Amino acid sequence: MSEVESVQRAGEAKADIASFDPRILVFTCNWCSYAGADLAGTSRLQHPPNARIIRTMCSGRIDPIFVLEALRDGADGVIVTGCHPGDCHYVKGNFRAEKRFHFLKMALKKLGVEEDRVRLAWISAGEGEKFSLLVKDMVNRVKELGPSSFKPSKIKSMEVLTP
Ligand code: FES
Repeated sequence: MSEVESVQRAGEAKADIASFDPRILVFTCNWCSYAGADLAGTSRLQHPPNARIIRTMCSGRIDPIFVLEALRDGADGVIVTGCHPGDCHYVKGNFRAEKRFHFLKMALKKLGVEEDRVRLAWISAGEGEKFSLLVKDMVNRVKELGPSSFKPSKIKSMEVLTP
């Protein structure tokens, strides 16, 4: 490849990244973080339209497999949110979520997926602004990473998830 071609390709790659519009999936819990997301909306706080929300009853319900499947199926980043520690309506759900999140990070490392594609955050019903900033920050972070290269073939065997 000539020097001109390699410069052209580098330019095209930069253009691809600039036009990259990441898909972000946000898991929320019913009682705190969903209400925070709702407050962001009703307060008309601006954040990029890249996020899709899935409401669960509690962050403790979010299995790492859900996150891996989201990444496998086209999400470029996933945020898991819940009530602040001590505020979970099921007492220990968010502590369970935190443990699972560490496990998820280990699994991502084994799969060769950038850890920054996932994030855990605690958001109360009154933290609409925090939710909005979180989404903005995640979109920017994932834009820097570029599109996810996580391929379905990598998750065919769950062996990779055993510690
Ligand atoms: Fe919100 Fe459990 S109910 S984290």
